[in-house]
This record gives sequence, structure tokens and C-alpha cells, in this order.
Amino acid sequence: MLEVRNVSKVFTVGLFSRHRIEAVKNVSMSVRKGEIVSLVGESGSGKTTLCRIILRLLEPTSGSVIYDSVDVTKLKGKKLKWYWSRVHGVFQDPYAAFHPFYRVERILYQGFNLLPRLDEGEKKRRVYEALKSVGLKPEEVLGKYPHELSGGMRQRVAIARCFILNPELIVADEPVSMLDASTRIGIIKLFSDLRDRFDSSVIFVTHDLGLAYVVSDRVLIMYKGVIVEEGDPVEVMERPSHMYTRRLREDVPLLYRKWEGF
Ligand SMILES: Nc1ncnc2c1ncn2[C@@H]1O[C@H](COP(=O)(O)OP(=O)(O)OP(=O)(O)O)[C@@H](O)[C@H]1O
Ligand SMILES: [Mg+2]
Repeated sequence: MLEVRNVSKVFTVGLFSRHRIEAVKNVSMSVRKGEIVSLVGESGSGKTTLCRIILRLLEPTSGSVIYDSVDVTKLKGKKLKWYWSRVHGVFQDPYAAFHPFYRVERILYQGFNLLPRLDEGEKKRRVYEALKSVGLKPEEVLGKYPHELSGGMRQRVAIARCFILNPELIVADEPVSMLDASTRIGIIKLFSDLRDRFDSSVIFVTHDLGLAYVVSDRVLIMYKGVIVEEGDPVEVMERPSHMYTRRLREDVPLLYRKWEGF
């Protein structure tokens, strides 16, 4: 459904752009319909850069992203709007993704700009249904500004926007790392609901191999801009082939293993 082909991204920083950072190095990956793929790696391994390239928020230095047989890195205008309605992002801090002076109602209605024209009644119906699907009371949140919501509620609003658009692929960049454990489970469940209801695919970015193991159909391990390992979550967890995956696995807390660091 979506295919990333030999994508690289080099950032040049510093005086006279002398310093080069190869954030993503010749990465190829694909996502099938209805599949939840986790992208796991430590901080700075290039996960967000890859997501932003897929979401067409950043141009790759080389390589292509193919969706529906078109190279989306070249899309413009109407076609690009269409792409953004089909492939949608949810970020670590949804506060940064929302306009701070817009109420939730307006934030959700923004999504309709990406869709073909709908009548007002249909828009309202979709907004109410989406909010209810994510466990929010429409009357309670529609009039609120983003800062008047808790982190978990903001993340639910971001996912409600996905329910409205009904995208084919959701790129979720660490959507739960700022939330507490119980809210986390609720949000993760919403992603699998989206998959079950609309057959949407999800790219789920996380630092946590344990979480990837629980939520995904396939795991990709990213290390220093390269995908070093890929496979079934059980395989990767039980028989990791790369040294870095083994290290990640050691970070997964096990209930029967006491921490003896003190
Ligand atoms: N706009 C930018 N300009 C220059 N360098 C950048 C830019 N964006 C990212 N980088 C660099 O690219 C590398 C990869 O960053 P990226 O944000 O993709 O990592 P990440 O895996 O998402 O990390 P984290 O888990 O901390 O979110 C880092 O070295 C970062 O400093
Ligand atoms: Mg990141």
C-alpha cells in the first residue's frame, strides 16, 4: 500500500552548512493494508525524520515514497491535499499540532478541508460520532481550547480527527510517550479500533520494544538512520539477530525481574 524506496535525508547545519547529519540512510520499507507496523529505535535514530518524509512534511535528499502508484514526494496542490486525507499523522505532543487559539470544534472541522464537500448536517454527525468513538463527550470538549484539555484528552482529539478522515494510513510518532500507563492503554486500543473499523494501517513509532511487541504485526528496528532488523514481533523479541535489538530487549521490564541497580 505504501512503499518507501531508498530514502535518505541529510541535514546540513552550522556556519556555511559545514556539518552534515545523515538522519536517514537509504531506508526501504513497506506497509500493507490493515497492518500495524512498529518503528522502534533510540532517540536520534531518525524515526521522526522518516515519518515526516512519509507524511510529506519534509523532502528527502534522495529516494521516493510510493502510495497508490504515485511518488508522493513530488505531489502538489489538490493531489497533496488528497494524500494528506489518506495518510494522516498523530504526534507525540498533539498540543504542538493544534492551533492554540482554535477551539476543539474548529480543530476537528479543519479536517473537512481535506475532504470532498459534505453538507453541514453530515459534518456535525461525523464530528459527534468521532468524539464518542474516542470516549469524549462532544458537549464537554467542543467548546474548549487545547490548553483546557489534559494530555490524554488532546491525544484523543487528535485521533478523533483520524476517525473523521478515515485515512488509509496513520503515522503515529510516539503518540503515547507523554501519557501515564493507564491512559496509554486506552489510546493504543483506539489505534487498533481504527484498524478494525476502517482497515486502516498504522506506523507506530516508539522507544519501547515491549510496547511494539504488544501492539504490532511487524517490527522494524532503526539504529543510526538505518533499519537494522525487521520481522514478526515474537521472532524479533525471542530471537533478535542484531546486537542493538538485544540491547533494546534488555530495557523491557519484566515483572519477575527485580531491579537491582541500587
Ligand atoms: N531540521 C533538522 N535540522 C538538522 N538536524 C535535524 C533536523 N531534524 C532532525 N535532525 C537530526 O536528525 C537526527 C535524527 O533525528 P530524529 O528526530 O529523526 O530522531 P528520532 O529517532 O525521532 O529521535 P527521538 O526518539 O528523540 O524523537 C538527529 O541527529 C537530529 O539532530
Ligand atoms: Mg522523534
